[in-house]
Parts: sequence; structure tokens; C-alpha cells
Amino acid sequence: MPYENLDDEAVRRRARAGRTPQEAPDRLRLATVDGRTLDEKDLDDRAGDDPSASGIVKPLPPELFVEHETNAEMRWDAMGDVGFHVPNDRFFVRNHTSTPIVDAATWRLRLHGTGLSAPRSFGYEELLAMPSVTRDVAIECAGNGRSLFTTQQHQEVAGTPWRLGGIGVARWRGVPLATVLERAGITPDAVDVMARGLDPAYVADGVDHGRVRRPIPAAKALRDVILAYEMNDEPLPPDHGHPVRLVVPGWIGLASVKWVGDIEVSTSPLSSPWNTEFYRMFGDAYPPQGGAPLTTQGVRSAFELPWNATLVAGRPYLLRGRSWSGNGRIADVEVSLDGGATWQRAPLRGPHVASTWTRWQVTWKPAETGRHFLLARATDETGAVQPSHTTHNDFGYLFDAVVRHPVTVVSG
Ligand code: MTE
Repeated sequence: MPYENLDDEAVRRRARAGRTPQEAPDRLRLATVDGRTLDEKDLDDRAGDDPSASGIVKPLPPELFVEHETNAEMRWDAMGDVGFHVPNDRFFVRNHTSTPIVDAATWRLRLHGTGLSAPRSFGYEELLAMPSVTRDVAIECAGNGRSLFTTQQHQEVAGTPWRLGGIGVARWRGVPLATVLERAGITPDAVDVMARGLDPAYVADGVDHGRVRRPIPAAKALRDVILAYEMNDEPLPPDHGHPVRLVVPGWIGLASVKWVGDIEVSTSPLSSPWNTEFYRMFGDAYPPQGGAPLTTQGVRSAFELPWNATLVAGRPYLLRGRSWSGNGRIADVEVSLDGGATWQRAPLRGPHVASTWTRWQVTWKPAETGRHFLLARATDETGAVQPSHTTHNDFGYLFDAVVRHPVTVVSG
């Protein structure tokens, strides 16, 4: 029953959008053509789309978001006046179908499976009364940066053409998943934990894949996963998983299942299309059955600048950006203002915490007019450094190469 958790307004919104969630296309094929032309046109076309067609509840003003069908990408150039956390009304949204409106008063979280000795369910108020944790964590889509496979590496990939705005850092509050699993009697031989969302079933190319769900190892579930009910000191907004979502530090965003309705705990490995067909590497560089299911994110960096920003020669600019890694803290960021010929260390500023991002800044007084490329290259505490090229995979996951950010310098 895809609509069982929807209120009338959500159903009306869908009716206005003129389609069922099952018809919402998720994957787009990017043509391998001149990168810049496709990229600009693609993003400009999408900026004017009817917001109601996205299935997303919150407003998506074009100065803050780029819409991609059922998803909304944060604009990095709108981050200049934003602090460490991305406010809820600016946080990117990645929905396989559409945002369900779930009533917290009647919602229950059901825990079941062979890996529990005392299967049970919890209500919203029960969770709120349990000891809580608060933690800053980045959520990032595995497809973040996907369009750069095409625009920078001239390769064809399938999927939502995110530039770099499929990431956000928020302060999450909730109950450690471990606490809930322990109260349901998780057994020592439990191997996998799989949360399932209450959003409508995901149908692609005529195949019904059921509701979004993806197993994570019991060891990870017990280590640091949060069953979050607050985002930046407010109850979770509908688009971000109200009433309760998982927050899985360091892992691809898919693992952070929103609108959790039930959790299966198993003594044998669990699977779903999200760890067999999607979210693993396919392509020439990988085995025919695909690489291992994706887990942690790589290292990435972004400038808080418009793509193709216009700057004036001879004027000093403070260029700011952020770098992040799924492996741990950012150790070092280097910036090149001459297309990669020379590099300088960018001073890091503000909080410097694992599973989030680190902000940095450099000054630049462009001397020569014309087109320039700004590059940022981060290294994390494990020594992982952004490469100059990411090995291609068919779905365009985990693009971690140094991005060539174009700017145009004009005379003053
Ligand atoms: N959970 C459900 N139930 N349905 C979804 O479509 N999308 C996943 C994850 N959790 C998704 C989900 C993906 S791919 C990402 S990147 C994150 O949610 C995005 O979280 P956000 O929309 O709060 O930014």
C-alpha cells in the first residue's frame, strides 16, 4: 500500500504533479558531448522546472537548489553565507520516489528477524524518552559529482546528474541504533541489519523493487549509527525522514534510510536490489557481477562559488570551500589557481571533525582576464588523497577526482 502513510495534502500534491510515484524517472542518461555545453544547458533547463513535480514537500527556490526530477541539489554558491551546518531548508534531497507524510502519533518502528531474541516495536514517544546522542554528520549521495564523469572525463554514465551539491552536514539527535537493537535482544550471531523506508515502492523500467531498504553489517549498526528524530535542533522535516531516519556516519547516503518503518535483524546475510543491482560498481574495470556493495565515501572538495563565476581582474577575492571524506578527518587541502600548474596549502578553519566537512579559504587576486580553472585537492587522515582521474563505472558512483572549477576573469 504505497499511500498508507500519506495525508490528503500529499496525495493532492501528487495529483497536481500529474503522475504516480511509480512513473517518476530516476535515471537519466548523460550523453558524451562537449562537457561544458551539456552541463550548463542541463542545469539551466532543470532550474525552471515546476517544483510540485518533484514530490518534495519543502520549497526549492532556484537560487538555492537545482532540481533533478525527484531530487534537489544544493547550490554551492549559496553556501557562502552558511555556517558549518546546512540549514534544513537548504539541505539537498534525494528521493527514489516522493516524500511520504508520516503521522508520528500512530507511527511504530517494528524490529523483527532471526537475529533478535525479543522482537518488539517502539512508538515515537518511547524513542524520545530514551537516552539520546547528538552528533554532526554529513549525508552524501554515492552519485554526488556524477555529472563530472561526463563534463570532465568525457565518459557516459547513467543516473541523476549531480554536480557536487548532493551533500550536507547537519546536527542529528536521536537514539543510538545499538540501544534499540539491544532492547530487542540482538543475538551475538546477528550479521546484518536492514531498515526499510515507508516511502512508495521504487519502480524502474517496469520492475517493482519494493520499498527502499539496504542491509548494513551488524557491527556497523552497533558501532555508531543513529536513529535520528531531530535535524539541526528541529524535528526531522518530512523530506529528510520524519519521524525517524537512520544516520550512518561515513557511509554512502543510501544507508541512511529515511522514514524507517521496520528493521530486520538476521543471522544470515540479507540482500535487496540496493546492494545487488544498484550501489555497486559495474563497468569495464569491475567483475561482471559488479564490485562489492558500496560502503564508505571517498575524499572530495568544492568551492563555494558559482560554476563559471565571473571575477574582476586586479580585485582581491577570498575563495572559500569545503573538503570531506568518509574515512575520517581532513588532514590537508591544497588549492591551485592556475589550472594545476602550482599548488598552495589552504588554511583550514572552524570545526575539524570526522564524518563532517572541513572549511578552508585562500585569497586570490586574478591578474589575467579569460577562462581559468580553480582546483582543490584534499588529503584525509588515512592518507587518502583526491586523484586527478576517477576510474569509470557505469552508474557514475563515487567521483572523487580533483574538480576543475571554471571561472571567467574580466577586466574591471
Ligand atoms: N530512504 C528512503 N526511505 N528512500 C530514499 O529514497 N534515499 C537515500 C537515503 N535514504 C532514500 C532514503 C539516499 S540515496 C540518500 S543520498 C539520502 O537518503 C539522502 O538524504 P536526504 O534526502 O535527507 O538528503
